Amino acid sequence: LFAGETQFVKGVVAMDGLPPADRMEVCFAGRSNVGKSSLINALTGTKNLARASNTPGRTQEINYFTLGEKGFLVDLPGYGYANAPLPVVEKWQRLLKQYLSGRQTLRRAFVLIDARHGVKKVDEDIMSLLDSAAVTFQTVLTKIDKVRKSDLEKSLRITREALAKHPAAYPELVLTSSEKGDGIATLRSIIAGID
Ligand code: GTP
Ligand code: MG
Repeated sequence: LFAGETQFVKGVVAMDGLPPADRMEVCFAGRSNVGKSSLINALTGTKNLARASNTPGRTQEINYFTLGEKGFLVDLPGYGYANAPLPVVEKWQRLLKQYLSGRQTLRRAFVLIDARHGVKKVDEDIMSLLDSAAVTFQTVLTKIDKVRKSDLEKSLRITREALAKHPAAYPELVLTSSEKGDGIATLRSIIAGID
């Protein structure tokens, strides 16, 4: 599924620009800079297919990529702080919420959490939105190469406590490093198993 060449389909700026809902899709949501685009590159074995950068607010559109013939991988703009003008940020935040609660073919949302910080209020808000929309979500801890073991355990504890409150949460977490490759094969097989 991830072996073939993944292609960029389109960048979407409004709900009516979404591609036809004719196959399954999974999306990657999370605070700005948490590593969504980098994770898509790691999963697809590409370097810069999804453009990543150190500036929070890099991804400003809903970016669609092919997942073989089977579906789409969807890279989302971040939420929380972004290095962009407020009206622009507000526009893409609205779109993000509309997308997460209104896309029929969205099978699972991966909610990315920085392993150094654990779940924050903005993450809880998105999780609550996914609960309301009955979209199953699975938490992915990112950048585990950057965290000390004791801090990782603390983030895991905070995150598990938060997840227990969300009915749409899938109980199993995935620990990843897009930099070092940890958890990437696991996440690929999780995605391959979603119909
Ligand atoms: P926005 O599009 O702005 O919302 O950000 P994003 O969530 O797509 O983050 P992006 O993938 O652009 O990564 C942000 C920064 O974190 C970049 O400088 C990446 O190189 C870095 N980064 C991402 N994943 C990892 C990781 O697993 N380990 C390390 N060390 N750095 C990472
Ligand atoms: Mg991005």
